Order: sequence, then structure tokens, then C-alpha cells
Amino acid sequence: MPKTTSQNSSNIGCLYGVGVGPGDPELLTLKALKAIQSVPVICVPQASNMQDSYALTIVKDYLTPDQEILRAPFPTNNADGAAKTWIDASKLVSSRLEKGQDVAFLTEGDPMLFSTFSYVLTGVKEINPEATVVIIPGISSVMASAASSGEPLVTHGQKLAILPATYGLDDLSEATSNFDTVVLMKVSPIIVKTLAELEELGLTKQSTYVRRVTTDREKVIRDVTQIKEEDMDYFSLLIVRGNQDES
Ligand SMILES: C[S@@+](CC[C@H](N)C(=O)[O-])C[C@H]1O[C@@H](n2cnc3c(N)ncnc32)[C@H](O)[C@@H]1O
Repeated sequence: MPKTTSQNSSNIGCLYGVGVGPGDPELLTLKALKAIQSVPVICVPQASNMQDSYALTIVKDYLTPDQEILRAPFPTNNADGAAKTWIDASKLVSSRLEKGQDVAFLTEGDPMLFSTFSYVLTGVKEINPEATVVIIPGISSVMASAASSGEPLVTHGQKLAILPATYGLDDLSEATSNFDTVVLMKVSPIIVKTLAELEELGLTKQSTYVRRVTTDREKVIRDVTQIKEEDMDYFSLLIVRGNQDES
């Protein structure tokens, strides 16, 4: 099927921000699949320390050889370099939009939660304010991890916090005192420190570790003292029950 474009009056293609879910291709939404299969250009973030784009591996069986794959490389540990990287990625995407081609920018999970898409969205809007943008939500790793662990994140009246890996003991202590459940994302580079902090806060027994959720490498560890080196992975998070239950 020929790939279509949906040019607006200024002949600029449409940018789709597509969430492709946490890993299992069956968790792609119908809307995501439709968008991915309709565009001539797919753009994926490619971390410098990863062999392939995780988002691309999720959708690869749904793509056809005539679709152009743009890889937007990004460093994982250099904030200054990352800013330039995202300007470059936005220019790359814009170059195709300006040809009238629609572009689907893929992100794992949901595109509006800790996602590389947010940088490209800002950059493309600056370069081509008239471009149409369609954002298609995806199933976040947070939701998928709750499903795999079989534990509701929060119920009526409870509070949920989602924190990135920048937390220190003070943040963690405050969050687990103020929220019923705290999800710690991007945890892998500081997992040892985080586990020590959870121990110090007496929260070890209330924590669950989820790795590569919904993939064949998924692992749910309910006794986090048993996490081994081989269990560690960039695609992992911790769900921590706060101290609210005790009151
Ligand atoms: C840059 S954030 C992207 C989050 C994504 N937008 C989402 O909605 O899930 C990357 C972090 O998400 C979490 N993550 C993403 N995919 C995961 C998976 N399949 N299993 C467990 N955690 C995952 C990890 O904490 C990882 O370090």
C-alpha cells in the first residue's frame, strides 16, 4: 500500500508522536499501528549505548522496506550534548516534513511521559510552527508493570508519584511519606544506592522490581534484596508502597 501524506495548506507533512507501548508488539494500539503503517518516514531515538532502537524493535514486523528509517542518535549522559542532539533530530524530522512527507516519531511506552518525543515536539514546532502534530498515546511501562506485578498502583483517594532517577534519600523519604505509591523510573544506574536507601527507610518489603515488562525477558522481583547483577537493565523500574498504609 503506498504511503500517504496528509499535507496541510502549507504542504508541510504531519508529525505523529507515537507511543509504541512497553515491549510486547500486541500492546500497540490500533491507532498507533495505523499511523506507523501509513507514513513514508519513521524516526526513532537511538541511544548511543544501545545496539538498536527499542521502539523500532517493537514495531519492526509491521514496517515495509519502502519506509525510510531515520535514527536520531542521543547521548545518555551528557545534558549539554543532548540539547544539540535534539536540535539536530528536530532538523532531521523537519527536513522530511518540509518535503510534504508525514513522519512518525516512535517512543517506547507513552510519548508524553519521560519521552524523547517531547524534545522533538518543541524543536519541530519552533522550526515549522505550521506543521500539524498528532500525538498517539501508548501504554506506559508504569501501567504495564502494575499489570504484570498484579498490584493496583493506587485505589480511590490514594496518591501516586512517578519519579526519575535523580532522587536522593531526602526526596525518596518525602515522596514515600506523602504518596501511597511511588514509581521510581530510570533506576538502573543507581539501583544499588536506591536499594540501600529503601533499606534505610524500611521500605524493602514494600518494593517490587520490574524488568523488561511485557517482553520475553520480563522479570518481576518481589523480594528486592534478591536483585542480582544479571537482573539489572535500563528498562526496569521499582514500585514502592509508601508509608501511608500504616496510618
Ligand atoms: C526515558 S523513560 C521512557 C518512559 C516511557 N515513555 C513510558 O511511558 O514507559 C525510560 C524508563 O522507562 C522505564 N521503562 C521503559 N520501558 C520499560 C519496560 N519495558 N520495563 C520496565 N521499565 C521500563 C525504565 O525505568 C526506563 O529507564
